[in-house]
Amino acid sequence: MWWFKLACIALAVATAVLGVSAAPPSVVDLAHCPKSCGGVNISYPFGIGQGCFRPGFEVTCNHNARPPKLFLTNTTTKIVQTYPWGGVDMFIFFNIATRPGAFGSYNRSWKAPGKSLFIGQDFIVVIIGCGVEAFLFDTTSGPGNLLGSCVTMCDDMVALEIAEGGYCNGMACCYIVLYAPFEVHAFRLDIIQKEQAVPVALVNATTLKAFLLEYKDMYTFSILDLLSDKVNESTIGAATVHLWPVITDQPNCQTARMHEQYACAASNCQEYGENVGYWCTCSNENDHGNPYIVGRGGCSEGKYCSSILWQCCPQ
Ligand SMILES: *[C@@H]1O[C@H](CO)[C@@H](O)[C@H](O)[C@H]1NC(C)=O
Ligand SMILES: *[C@@H]1O[C@H](CO)[C@@H](O)[C@H](O)[C@H]1NC(C)=O
Ligand SMILES: *[C@@H]1O[C@H](CO)[C@@H](O)[C@H](O)[C@H]1NC(C)=O
Ligand SMILES: *[C@@H]1O[C@H](CO)[C@@H](O)[C@H](O)[C@H]1NC(C)=O
Ligand SMILES: *[C@@H]1O[C@H](CO)[C@@H](O)[C@H](O)[C@H]1NC(C)=O
Repeated sequence: MWWFKLACIALAVATAVLGVSAAPPSVVDLAHCPKSCGGVNISYPFGIGQGCFRPGFEVTCNHNARPPKLFLTNTTTKIVQTYPWGGVDMFIFFNIATRPGAFGSYNRSWKAPGKSLFIGQDFIVVIIGCGVEAFLFDTTSGPGNLLGSCVTMCDDMVALEIAEGGYCNGMACCYIVLYAPFEVHAFRLDIIQKEQAVPVALVNATTLKAFLLEYKDMYTFSILDLLSDKVNESTIGAATVHLWPVITDQPNCQTARMHEQYACAASNCQEYGENVGYWCTCSNENDHGNPYIVGRGGCSEGKYCSSILWQCCPQ
């Protein structure tokens, strides 16, 4: 089977010459890359270090934390899990110090590095605090389109105690719902704290909290969360959002296929929105191979990873 060998040599040479600039890589190309950080697996296109990630998908492991924590590079967004079949689970939350009862205007923003991620599931932004109005803007392009707003009140302690353990209902807690597909790569949350009397029992509720949550994981309100200095990944439990990778160096599949940098291996090219990029999936939805890598570990049905070629090309 001389032609198999020839094909393998050609493949190996191409890999060696083009190195990591050739997309997509194989497990061999990625062999030198860190595989995990603090128990979180790292799957391409995410990666740490030279040749280990696609632009926009660089992650950083903070080894000073115990256990180490994985972040999107240059952000404070902690990654909880990356999936070989695409995307990441992340915590996105803000703790905002305020003076209760006094007027204040606050804003916080979030941006996916390189516009490389989008929120593909219905999600909510929960706001916990007294007497606030919150406005969520999509800042993906331009200064911001209003996506939704909500209002909280704390004047009635009895109502607040009734709200305990239930869904946010405006008593110290409100939420803004966003339905997928939601083409957001960046958003800003503006919060106005109104001047108003706060019940004595709540004078120490000085930190506003805001976090993203998948709609299906609806947050249940707790007065303890209102009173706490801050929320974090432990206190808000399962409050993660799943973000999908989007390759934005080409606007759509048609143009992407013509470029050497085309990200999809033995996988399908998918578009979301109009000319905002594409992502890759295995043709069988139960196939949890990585659509961004060729050969072993990639989608199991693709043209590059026929079982014959695997055997032919040692890893
Ligand atoms: C992480 O990778 C290890 C080794 O490949 C695997 O056994 C484990 O199930 C993975 N964890 C998750 C949460 O995917
Ligand atoms: C992170 O920030 C540094 C310094 O501002 C910059 O040089 C680098 O390109 C950034 N990396 C990413 C992935 O945005
Ligand atoms: C956000 O707040 C900062 C000050 O904290 C302010 O300088 C900036 O203009 C605000 N941005 C918007 C869009 O309101
Ligand atoms: C608020 O905090 C102060 C200082 O920690 C404490 O002395 C006070 O009892 C607290 N007030 C309430 C109502 O919890
Ligand atoms: C979350 O906050 C609690 C209470 O402030 C703290 O004990 C815990 O260590 C924090 N967890 C993380 C992961 O930062």
